[in-house]
Amino acid sequence: MSGGFWDERYAEPELIYGAEPNDFLREMAPRIPPGPVLGLGEGQGRNAVFLAGLGHPVTAVDQSAVGLARARDLAASRGVAIHTVTADLADDDPGPGPWSGIFSIFCHVPSSIRRRLYPRCAEVLAPGGVLILESYTPDQLAYGTGGPKEPDLLCTLAELEGLLPGLVFDVGRECVREILEGALHHGAGAVVQVVAHKPV
Ligand SMILES: C[S@@+](CC[C@H](N)C(=O)[O-])C[C@H]1O[C@@H](n2cnc3c(N)ncnc32)[C@H](O)[C@@H]1O
Repeated sequence: MSGGFWDERYAEPELIYGAEPNDFLREMAPRIPPGPVLGLGEGQGRNAVFLAGLGHPVTAVDQSAVGLARARDLAASRGVAIHTVTADLADDDPGPGPWSGIFSIFCHVPSSIRRRLYPRCAEVLAPGGVLILESYTPDQLAYGTGGPKEPDLLCTLAELEGLLPGLVFDVGRECVREILEGALHHGAGAVVQVVAHKPV
């Protein structure tokens, strides 16, 4: 799905995934050590703003300039600042880091991008740094409660285990959970959830 597609969606008056962070990120965020955090496909910034509120310097990357403008507005309304980067993850690099945390919440990118991006994330995490990811899995196609319809945008735990070399999985599971995060992610959904850290 292109940046133009997301720009149109994010121009709607309401925040389409809401202003509150993703449930899994909220629960797991205390595991991220102090320091800079990178958000992949962060859209309108609900998760970035939450982490900034915990004291992390946050960089949020997304292909949608409209989404990131809304993210900065949300940050300002909460009295925090975030750094935003408009870029396509197909060719953007997470930079040298080291990042104390990297998060990817419902950032559904094609397998060709995942194969390059996720190993790179593992490289640029700081020792002790934590990666937090939640994504719909291919099983979600049967639920119809949100997420992309293209199977290649959906990933499994087995794939992620192969794409994050050197990280230790503290949480790695596929499950069905009730997701109430805006009108587009609404109802029982099949997800993969990962918390993985880089050994010191
Ligand atoms: C379902 S939304 C999730 C937004 C946000 N993470 C959240 O949880 O509210 C997916 C986001 O991934 C972004 N995205 C998808 N493919 C991308 C790419 N190739 N480069 C940059 N951003 C991308 C979209 O622009 C969109 O903002």
